[in-house]
Amino acid sequence: MTGRDNVLWLQCWRDRQTDFHQTGVNQLLTQFWPNLALAQGSRVFVPLCGKSLDMIWLAKQGHEVIGVELSPLAVRAFFRENRLQPVRRQVGKFTLWKHGRVSILCGDYFSLSKDDLGQIDTVYDRAALTALPEDLRPLYVAQLKLIVQDTTNVFLLTTEDAEEQDTQSQALGVAEEIKTLYSEDFKIDLAHVESVFEVDPKAPDKSPERTEYKVYRLSTRSG
Ligand SMILES: C[S@@+](CC[C@H](N)C(=O)[O-])C[C@H]1O[C@@H](n2cnc3c(N)ncnc32)[C@H](O)[C@@H]1O
Repeated sequence: MTGRDNVLWLQCWRDRQTDFHQTGVNQLLTQFWPNLALAQGSRVFVPLCGKSLDMIWLAKQGHEVIGVELSPLAVRAFFRENRLQPVRRQVGKFTLWKHGRVSILCGDYFSLSKDDLGQIDTVYDRAALTALPEDLRPLYVAQLKLIVQDTTNVFLLTTEDAEEQDTQSQALGVAEEIKTLYSEDFKIDLAHVESVFEVDPKAPDKSPERTEYKVYRLSTRSG
C-alpha cells in the first residue's frame, strides 16, 4: 500500500509536480507557533517535510529541526536552494543530511524508529497527514505514536474544503477524521480558522470555492 504511494511521490519530485511547496514561510506557522512558548533548543519533528522553508524558520526560532522525507531530490533541493552545505551520514535505513540546526532523514517515514529520531518535543505537520490517501492516515498516526514520546504535542495545519463539509459528502471531513485519529491520546484545540474563497487553478472557469485553513493544537493527555 505504502510502496505504491512512495513510487508516486518519487515521480512527483522527478517531474517537478510540487505545487504543494510554498515559496515562503507559512503565515499561520509564524502567527500561531509562538503561542506554544517552546524553550530554545526544543526538538521539532517535521514528518513528510519536502523542501519546506518552514524548517528554516523553525531553526531560526532556536529549535533543533528533524525532518523526514522520502525523495533525495527534495532533500538535495532544500539544502541547495537555501545555500547550505550539509554533512551526510547513514542512520539505520536513512541517510541523515545535516546543517546547523536542521537535519533531514531521507527515507520512508513508515520505516522510522524511535531511536532514529531521538527525543521530540513537538511535531509540526503541514500537508503531511492530509497529503496521504485516507486509507493510510490511520497508519500514519499509529506510526507517529510509536516513534515520538507520549508527552510529545502536535501542531497541525490543514487545508479543508468547506463545501464538502457543508454538503456532508460521504467522505469523512478532515476535522472529523482528526477527532477519530487523535482524540484518544490528545486534547484537540482548534486554535484558528481562516475562510478564503479560492478559484481552483485546475478549473479556472468554475466559481470560487470556500477553503478553510485551520490551526490545530494537539496536547498529549499524558503531558
Ligand atoms: C504534500 S508534500 C508536503 C511537504 C511539506 N510538508 C510542505 O509543507 O511543503 C508531502 C511530502 O511527503 C513526502 N512523502 C510522502 N510519503 C512519504 C513517506 N512515506 N516517507 C517520507 N516522506 C514521504 C513526499 O515526497 C512529499 O515531499
